[in-house]
Amino acid sequence: MEKTKSLKNPLIKITGLLLLLVSFIAFIAKAPAFPIASENLLPWSVWFLIAALLNMVVWGILVKLMTYVLAIIWFFALIAAWVPDTSTVTATLTELDWDDPEAVIEFGEAIFKSKGQCSACHTLDTSAPKGRCPDLTDIGNNAANREPGKDARTYLIESLYEPGKYLVPGYGKIMPEVWKNPIALTKVEIAAVIAFLQSQGGEADPTPFDEPIDRAEVGTTAEALPPLLTGDPEEGKRVFIDAACISCHEIQGLENPKAGEVNEDFEVVTAPKLTEIAAFNEPRYIEESILLPDAIIVSGYGSVTVIAQGVTYQGTLVSQDTEKIVVRTKADDGTETEHTILLSDLDDEPIEDLTDLKGRGYLTLTITPIDSDTPVSGEIVEESDTTVTLKVGDETQTFSKTDMKKQMTLPDYDGNQIVGELVSRDDFEIVLIVDGKEETFDPFDFDDSNFVVASASGKRLKVKSPMPANFPDLLSFREMADLLAYLSTLTGATAEEGSDEATSDTQEEATE
Ligand code: HEC
Ligand code: HEC
Repeated sequence: MEKTKSLKNPLIKITGLLLLLVSFIAFIAKAPAFPIASENLLPWSVWFLIAALLNMVVWGILVKLMTYVLAIIWFFALIAAWVPDTSTVTATLTELDWDDPEAVIEFGEAIFKSKGQCSACHTLDTSAPKGRCPDLTDIGNNAANREPGKDARTYLIESLYEPGKYLVPGYGKIMPEVWKNPIALTKVEIAAVIAFLQSQGGEADPTPFDEPIDRAEVGTTAEALPPLLTGDPEEGKRVFIDAACISCHEIQGLENPKAGEVNEDFEVVTAPKLTEIAAFNEPRYIEESILLPDAIIVSGYGSVTVIAQGVTYQGTLVSQDTEKIVVRTKADDGTETEHTILLSDLDDEPIEDLTDLKGRGYLTLTITPIDSDTPVSGEIVEESDTTVTLKVGDETQTFSKTDMKKQMTLPDYDGNQIVGELVSRDDFEIVLIVDGKEETFDPFDFDDSNFVVASASGKRLKVKSPMPANFPDLLSFREMADLLAYLSTLTGATAEEGSDEATSDTQEEATE
């Protein structure tokens, strides 16, 4: 009797109640095992059990009842936490156990093959036929050589979060942003997939990383786009023919009633077949391909104009890597020629306006900083509104876009020109430093309609889509919706007939 009395001492009572509540909350909230609970000591669930038993002994009926209710919740939560562990690998994992890298890699491989849907597109077997997606054999090693200045891990992180930012030469932008719906990998899952990819020819690296995206923002950006309308695929097929998409794009099983006729609105070019367009792409991508053809250009189909060693090439950009491009040109008589052009052979073009250099296709830049006499040249690595970072030799240097010396070119009426550093300029006098000497020129001696004042020069590769950009103006909303509904039925298997099943699927997707 004496003993139970002392057990009921208020201190024990309060401690028991506190432990009960703390361990319950920590267990439900999956708090890390700290400070009293640890994986080696006792997990939160066991502390909770101890506290519950203690409270049942020391407290009166009210607290006993509460303890009982919590214990029931605890019991079901415990079962729920155990079930996924044995059935699927994905659910409920909130942390990777880097004490066991092999297990992390294995988990990453499971995500690669299941939830991530990576193996639906990518192979891990060099002998597999080359498809629309790169084989990932040795990617842990190759990733280091993809983008200048990016190590393997940074490249892999970018590949998964922002796959469109750098396209593997020869491949189009069809890889989904796997952190978004519908694949929606969590950060932990992505970290595991990266470990798995690194283990292919390299070594998994447990260093934590920050996601280069803002998950919270996704909801708002998705809302900013107008919702996809529900359209009628049969009508859409008619639009595809009437709007002459069919002049450039082939769809298996769809006949072009105007085949052979000359089109006056645009030049017919080789374009991707659309028979399977919906098998690999979301409706959003297909919509964007029509609304903004230049936003994403299927590799091998873009058109370019480049000047290399004084020769102008205008044609299709067949392929591109970090050193060279292949351009296919077409002569008037229809014969096609492929030219391999080294990027280093591209001519420097004067740049008057330094905004959005990368967006405008500039690869390199040559500038003279305002406090220096020697020009600096390098590959453009990064750019903001006010600065540009160049890779000069082995190091990177950042320059302010406004602190650069300006070059001025003065062409006269006889085809000669004078180039020099601009010192000052007004309506009656232009002062330039030419070959180290300051000279004054009379603007009236020159062809002022062709004056060029450039802050820099650079090599440029501007790729444009040969697909006309005026379809958004030509087509009504209704037609656009119908067209999308039709294109969304094109999954290859159903392309020939556009079966009823595929049709209803599309409508569901389109209303989402
Ligand atoms: C719909 C097809 C598709 C799916 C699904 C897909 N990818 Fe890709 N992936 C591509 C294509 C196409 C490219 C090449 C173009 C590019 O760089 O985006 C690519 C590029 C990559 C690259 C760069 C490869 C290189 O050689 O530099 C990596 C790494 C990669 N994917 C990993 C993954 C992982 C991991 C998953 C699953 C979580 C995944 N991909 C899912 C189509 C896909
Ligand atoms: C003058 C020829 C031409 C016409 C007309 C044309 N396209 Fe295109 N289209 C192209 C070329 C070339 C590409 C590949 C380059 C690119 O991605 O922009 C392309 C790309 C596409 C793509 C992306 C294909 C892929 O594999 O990712 C879609 C979708 C598409 N076009 C739909 C249409 C629709 C719908 C119409 C009619 C409203 C149309 N196009 C009219 C030439 C054309």
